[in-house]
Amino acid sequence: MRLLITGGAGFIGSNFVRYILKKYPGYGIVNLDKLTYAGNLENLADIEGDSRHEFVHGDICDPDCVHKLMSGSVDAVVNFAAESHVDRSILDSSEFVRTNIEGTRNLLDISRRNKIGRYIQISTDEVYGSLGDSGAFTEETPIAPNSPYSASKAAADLLVRSYCHTHGFPAVITRCSNNYGPCQFPEKLIPLLVSNAMSDIPLPIYGDGMNVRDWIHVEDHCAAIDAVLHRGETGEVYNVGGRQEIPNIEVARRILAALGKSESLLTYVEDRPGHDRRYAIDSTKIETELDWKPRITFAAGLPETIAWYRRNASWMERVRSGAYLKYYDDMYGRRKQTLSAR
Ligand code: NAD
Ligand code: DAU
Repeated sequence: MRLLITGGAGFIGSNFVRYILKKYPGYGIVNLDKLTYAGNLENLADIEGDSRHEFVHGDICDPDCVHKLMSGSVDAVVNFAAESHVDRSILDSSEFVRTNIEGTRNLLDISRRNKIGRYIQISTDEVYGSLGDSGAFTEETPIAPNSPYSASKAAADLLVRSYCHTHGFPAVITRCSNNYGPCQFPEKLIPLLVSNAMSDIPLPIYGDGMNVRDWIHVEDHCAAIDAVLHRGETGEVYNVGGRQEIPNIEVARRILAALGKSESLLTYVEDRPGHDRRYAIDSTKIETELDWKPRITFAAGLPETIAWYRRNASWMERVRSGAYLKYYDDMYGRRKQTLSAR
């Protein structure tokens, strides 16, 4: 099978590329990524030179680029490419609308034209909005996004749905809860807190710290996408969650304890505007229909993730300093020099 993976230099996409190459030695991957601030080729450094993986620097909104890639032999598309950070969408939503909505439309149209057999839209539980103290999102929960980010993801989901309904397009949508694990950009809660704690910088806690997220290890999310890619039903939505609801302040305390740091680093800051209070995912459908379930507990996955960031302090340092943005130029510059020396 040959996959077109978009956004494969980001957090979840790069973990998925690695997951697929390991599990399916015969598969090929074309990885299309614009390398925005969130895309980092260092996330793929360990598979550099693997001939089964071809990286293409480009934009999902560019019809010529996408058409060229799909008119080769692509069997399925997995769309991770997105602007993904809620706080950034509050400051400026324009790139969110462009990439998350227009980019998805472009992928859908060109996939359709090229008769792609399977399309997976990687969506989010945030499209359902916010929960009170009880209950969990099911696939039947009405969509009620609250941030410009989640609104753009919900709009993309509706486009995907309409292409299935109108054109019989073979798409499936996944809606996952909060991921954590290696290679996550340190604007998101867990890597930000780990990085700050490692450098004895205060840990910013929005509002009262009692907002709840349902944490899932990125490996479990990758396994769920694998199940949907191979066994998912066309036109369906599958929720994916870790069944591990934890308030933010508790996540912060566990990180400080794991690193042996003082709770005096906890700093309550102004709340995020429109901050969703609680997410919880009911993933019964994917568990029963596609035989998937999360395997990594937060109690095991968090210390392992913290250990990864400690082992890869230079990765974190290069991301925080912006040095990683030069990696692509350096790598391709070196390659050009080698070629011209031949
Ligand atoms: P990320 O921000 O780490 O990575 C996004 C990637 O997309 C980057 O490599 C970036 O360069 C690329 N990209 C952005 N715009 C592009 C464009 N126009 N063309 C091509 N590439 C482009 O995001 P992530 O956390 O890995 O999330 C991946 C997907 O999963 C997103 O669609 C997100 O909405 C969804 N999701 C994320 C989570 C989570 O907890 N992180 C949970 C559920 C769903
Ligand atoms: O639920 C899935 C979503 O999870 C994905 O669709 C998004 O792409 C992903 O970014 C994530 O969204 P959140 O807004 O939940 O994640 P974030 O890491 O930004 O924040 C998690 C919680 O921590 C949230 O309640 C806000 C809070 N927070 C966040 C930051 C960055 C803080 O208290 N302090 C912080 O500094």
